[in-house]
Amino acid sequence: MARFYVTTPIYYVNDAPHIGHAYTTVTADALARWHRLIGDEVFFLTGTDEHGLKVQRAAEARGLTPREHADRTSQRYREVWASLDISNDDFIRTTEPRHYQATQELMQAAYDNGWIELRPYEGLYCVSCEAYYAEAELVDGKLCPIHRTPVELLKEENYFFKLSQFTDRLLDWYSSVPGAVTPESKRNEAVGLIRGGLRDISISRTSISWGVPVPWDPDHVFYVWYDALINYATAIGYGSDPARFEAWWPAVHHLIGKDILRFHCVYWPALLMAAGIDPPQRIAVHGYLLVGGEKMSKTALNQIAPADLLPTFGVDGYRYHFLRDQAFGPDGDFSYEAMVARYNADLANNLGNLLARVSTVVERKCDGIGPAPSASSKLADVAAAVWADAAAAWERMSPSEALEATWRLVRETNAALEVAEPWKAEPGDEVDAVLGDALEALRIVAVLASPALTRASQEIWRRIGLPGQVTDQPLAAAASWGGYPGGLAVERGAPLFPRINA
Ligand code: ME8
Ligand code: MG
Repeated sequence: MARFYVTTPIYYVNDAPHIGHAYTTVTADALARWHRLIGDEVFFLTGTDEHGLKVQRAAEARGLTPREHADRTSQRYREVWASLDISNDDFIRTTEPRHYQATQELMQAAYDNGWIELRPYEGLYCVSCEAYYAEAELVDGKLCPIHRTPVELLKEENYFFKLSQFTDRLLDWYSSVPGAVTPESKRNEAVGLIRGGLRDISISRTSISWGVPVPWDPDHVFYVWYDALINYATAIGYGSDPARFEAWWPAVHHLIGKDILRFHCVYWPALLMAAGIDPPQRIAVHGYLLVGGEKMSKTALNQIAPADLLPTFGVDGYRYHFLRDQAFGPDGDFSYEAMVARYNADLANNLGNLLARVSTVVERKCDGIGPAPSASSKLADVAAAVWADAAAAWERMSPSEALEATWRLVRETNAALEVAEPWKAEPGDEVDAVLGDALEALRIVAVLASPALTRASQEIWRRIGLPGQVTDQPLAAAASWGGYPGGLAVERGAPLFPRINA
């Protein structure tokens, strides 16, 4: 059995969850659900990043201790993920004892291997990024290139990670594992950063106390990023359960936004190498979800929360839109109108209408008992092709293409019904065959759509009379034509996806 370990970034607790954070998390969730469906052993991790100056200041501004503030915001993330049916197996907080232990152990290993040393440091720091910048990187010589806010001069003795000495090993890794970072454009960006020359990086602070203490020099805490990245190792037992860590690492798939590419695609593999650990198997980088052409931010006041959309679209409508319409990789503009249009076209008209039609005609022409499908038909061929295309698309982390493929079966089934017009025909074998095929197509669509439509897929399954959970089918049976046995009571219920009037 294959193992599939998938992670999201751990989100900063200085900010409330918005649809950008949810984009990565919903995508990771759909992938986790797909891999469970195909029988993989899955471990799906998300969590919150709770240390650092940014969080300390956000807490102070609210008159809270960093811990109180972190408790509250971390809880908000958990609640939002629950509201989106996120099926994470663990939720890590970097303030947990297990994470202190893992961070200290991993950094101690890098230190013992000679890759970390104490040096004086003075640099220009962006608190929002929690990162130092070289003067040349600044906008107008003083502004952070990402936040366009002034950087601050920080002076301290820091521990440095000798990143510059990992240039060749990183380049070797990139050339020996071509698919380590996807898409290709992002891989090239990472390779470009490495070729451009790596400087040693400061990994500790004495100016703040809100962090994981450096085990060999407790006046220092690790700079937030160098504890945060290690969460991915903590959660599978690094520092506490070596056998478990061995079982899951390095078969990890990190999903990240392009804003944190440098940390994940350059610093993280190097740090792992320094500690004597293999780099991650895969880092999948996606673009920004833009609102009005801009990245969402607190300062732009353009943040949209999942709770703004859920009452209108429901969990399934929400998930479907972001998975189907926001391709994983490039930037994409969020548009409410596009979300309504997609919902009405694919969910209300295509899928919802298919289920309504089939259940209505089964009630009228077959006394409400669903007939079995025919042994072979054009739809059987479509279903086989759709299954193969969808599986390949999930495999290359392209939910939009997987769902596009799945909806081909929905459309073809509707089209077959429009040709046969069973609602006009006399009850009999021909009508039974047409409806049996449509029910079988619905069964397969329910399975294939289940990573996206967590609720409707089960509801379709139930209404066409099938027992148990749509997600509990042995893959081979679920995939092949003929699984709908016939003779089951079909329920004609309320519209699955009531139309939304824009
Ligand atoms: O960077 N479009 O946390 P963060 C798409 N704590 N994705 C977006 C997005 C947008 N407009 N806005 C945010 C951090 N994201 C660190 C990570 S990991 C060891 C530490 C998503 O709260 C995207 O996944 O700023 C992005 O990389 C992440 O949220 C940044 O979350
Ligand atoms: Mg950020």
